[in-house]
Amino acid sequence: MPNYAYGIDLGTSNIKIYSCADDNILIEKNMIAIENKKNVFAYGNSAYEMYEKAPANIKISYPLCNGVIADINNMEKLIRFFISDMTKGNIKPADYYIAVPTDITEVEKRAFYDLIKDANVKARKIMVVEKAVADGLGLDIDVKNAQGVLVVNIGYDTTEVSILSLGGIVLSRLIKTGGLKFDEAIRSTVRKEFNLLIGQKTAETIKKSLGTLEEEGHGAVVYGRDIVTGLPVEREIPADLIYSCLEEHFNTIIDSIKVILERTPPELGADIYRNGIYLTGGASQISHFAGLVEKGTGLKVNQAERPIESVVLGLARILKEDHYKSVAYAIEGMGK
Ligand SMILES: Nc1ncnc2c1ncn2[C@@H]1O[C@H](COP(=O)(O)OP(=O)(O)OP(=O)(O)O)[C@@H](O)[C@H]1O
Ligand SMILES: [Mg+2]
Repeated sequence: MPNYAYGIDLGTSNIKIYSCADDNILIEKNMIAIENKKNVFAYGNSAYEMYEKAPANIKISYPLCNGVIADINNMEKLIRFFISDMTKGNIKPADYYIAVPTDITEVEKRAFYDLIKDANVKARKIMVVEKAVADGLGLDIDVKNAQGVLVVNIGYDTTEVSILSLGGIVLSRLIKTGGLKFDEAIRSTVRKEFNLLIGQKTAETIKKSLGTLEEEGHGAVVYGRDIVTGLPVEREIPADLIYSCLEEHFNTIIDSIKVILERTPPELGADIYRNGIYLTGGASQISHFAGLVEKGTGLKVNQAERPIESVVLGLARILKEDHYKSVAYAIEGMGK
């Protein structure tokens, strides 16, 4: 009988689910479109497609906010839709391993457990894994033996900076910055400097294309609405301007890494120094950032090959390799 087990990384922007039975990863936008306040009109990537384009009676939202569940009902619905899609409608009793941030309250952690329990997905056993530990495994680090690993995951709403040692977390901070803050900074700068209103998707496209723009030696050509005339226009936004508005956010992240380093027990310092910093999460791919972290901390930076997936790849290892099962735990009084 196949091993029915799932590993879930509930990102604010992307949900990633690993299914052990068919060794497959699903990545979808963690978004839901509700029509007339009650009917689910679309979910996942198709809800995202409609974002910023839908009429007023369709509300499109992210059920997660700052790494924690903000809208339980819709999050339960999404989990059920995605698991149902992965099993072609035939949901079998299964184990669920869910990655949670470390630096949140017990109540917020328990909400992840309740989410799976109440999502009607036939959960047999629900286990929790600290996100940074899963990240470490996904980055191919032997987290159970390593003594001092610094992992920085820059996602959409959050950045998690953690020190791992011997399979556990020594220190972890969740800060409210990430890809969304970068997009917002780009939007407000374009608005201020060019009197131009652009959508969030356009800002995200600019952010992702920074590296290519530099190689090609031109700015980002964007379409938006001129605030003065109210008409749609095309403008070229120089890459330099974008970098300068992102600087503040880059520095916030680098400063948080330094604060964690300052608080790290000195005995762990040697390994961290030797191994360098592991940088992951979708937004860590932004051009030039890794170099700035190296410069700011004096440490070598290792960039993840699959930054969006590193947490879920770690969960997959836990499901496949018994040796790593012990890093997962049941929430007291609830797991089996
Ligand atoms: N090539 C790229 N360059 C820069 N940013 C990128 C790139 N590809 C994706 N991103 C950004 O990565 C972010 C999504 O990453 P990820 O899936 O790790 O976040 P998440 O897990 O959903 O969020 P969180 O961990 O905060 O809950 C988005 O802000 C997206 O714009
Ligand atoms: Mg994430």
